[in-house]
Amino acid sequence: MKIAFVASESNPLCKTGGLADVVYSLSKALIAEGNEVAVVLPFYQRIADIHLPLKKLGGFYIQMSWRHQGAAVFEYVLNGVRFLLIQNDYYFSRESLYGYQDDGERFAFFSLASLEALKTAGFKADVVHVHDWQAGMIPCLLKNRDDPFFYGAKTVLTIHNPAFKGMIDKYFLNDFYGLSDALFDSGAVRFEGMASTLKSGIVFADKITTVSPTHREELLTPALSQGLDGVLRLREKDFVGILNGIDTEEFDPRKDVYIARNYGRGKDLEEGKHANQSDLLSSFAVKWMGGPVYGIVSRLSYQKGIGLLLSSMERELSRGANFLVVGSGEYELEQRLEALRSRYPGTMGIYIGYNNALAHKVYAGSDFFLMPSLFEPCGISQMIAQRYGTLPIVRYTGGLRDTVQGYRDLGSKKPDGIAFRDYNEQGLDYAIGLAEEIYRDQGLYYALARTAMGLDRSWKKSAKRYMELYSSLF
Ligand code: GLC
Repeated sequence: MKIAFVASESNPLCKTGGLADVVYSLSKALIAEGNEVAVVLPFYQRIADIHLPLKKLGGFYIQMSWRHQGAAVFEYVLNGVRFLLIQNDYYFSRESLYGYQDDGERFAFFSLASLEALKTAGFKADVVHVHDWQAGMIPCLLKNRDDPFFYGAKTVLTIHNPAFKGMIDKYFLNDFYGLSDALFDSGAVRFEGMASTLKSGIVFADKITTVSPTHREELLTPALSQGLDGVLRLREKDFVGILNGIDTEEFDPRKDVYIARNYGRGKDLEEGKHANQSDLLSSFAVKWMGGPVYGIVSRLSYQKGIGLLLSSMERELSRGANFLVVGSGEYELEQRLEALRSRYPGTMGIYIGYNNALAHKVYAGSDFFLMPSLFEPCGISQMIAQRYGTLPIVRYTGGLRDTVQGYRDLGSKKPDGIAFRDYNEQGLDYAIGLAEEIYRDQGLYYALARTAMGLDRSWKKSAKRYMELYSSLF
């Protein structure tokens, strides 16, 4: 099949979160199963800065009411994935990917231009698979316009983060997208008095997916759906949860080029973990305090439970634990982490920003990996940690529920991590208590680590599920 992904980020070109991992690794897995995949992305400044060998395929103009903006389409092929990059300096030649007051307009331009770019590339997709709010309006566009190039094409929407709904004033339905106000008046794309591109995707896509089975159930539940349960219930039979995998080539402790010593689940595990832990501590210039080393690689946001972590960290630091953090995000959380580090300069390490090499070292060298998320559609880092024999400490929510079997949890057949249920300090403290208990019994620690490392996290199974979903559309 020919599948066109339309997304706002993808490895290895531009990334702020897990979406980028999924777009690229799922593309590769689909290609390995014999499909053709094109990935349409904005040509951000960040991509221009890499100076890739690009091929220009053509250009066109997009008319959005009075706005008349040009776009050029560049192609870059990597491991069989055909990236189609949409260049427009006015919209995309900016420092960051998002966070601008005109994001609604930027991604309206991107959505409209994506469809033209597929034509320019002559990529006649069987399935146009769009991701999150940035491309959410595309299924609606395809259903409300008569474009012979897309005759027969089916659409799929994947929800990676339901917190971002792509809210625009109803006026922009017509002003950006050339769509009728009737879509708002009928309620089809209306959300809290505005138009939502994500809701529009839910209403108009032929199938809807999210990134874990548990998160699918959550999205159908008023308390956990972030306002989307009503409309998702209307589409319940077309809505599935498919668990993400991880890139098992990039994240393989036996071959990882970023870590001090390669290791597997065999006899070399203990030695490998020790060597990587010393290297990790010295990379952050901190001293081992004789207790467990906790790692965090995360967007620093309340969604990820960083606010909750801060109070427990202070206590554990005072008791001799080490904490190492790589990430960036909400300014207030960055500041609070910095303040904590200034009180424990020799034992806590922070790297504010994204640093791939250092992230790999954290996965390999920590004893425990913290991910106490408030909500988590899937989560990828916990699976990476498991592959490196680092036990994840998670809150049972969304994909964390589907990927971790908590130690001492009656429901766990074979524990491979630590989990707690309630999003509060008692919950997290209980989990940290379990971590200490496991840490004191190194035989137990390594038994759990070996179980975690043996889990199959490749994309193969999930890619097949997406293919079944695509096939069911014809
Ligand atoms: C979003 C979600 C995360 C998920 C990722 C990829 O970042 O917050 O849970 O793993 O998308 O699907």
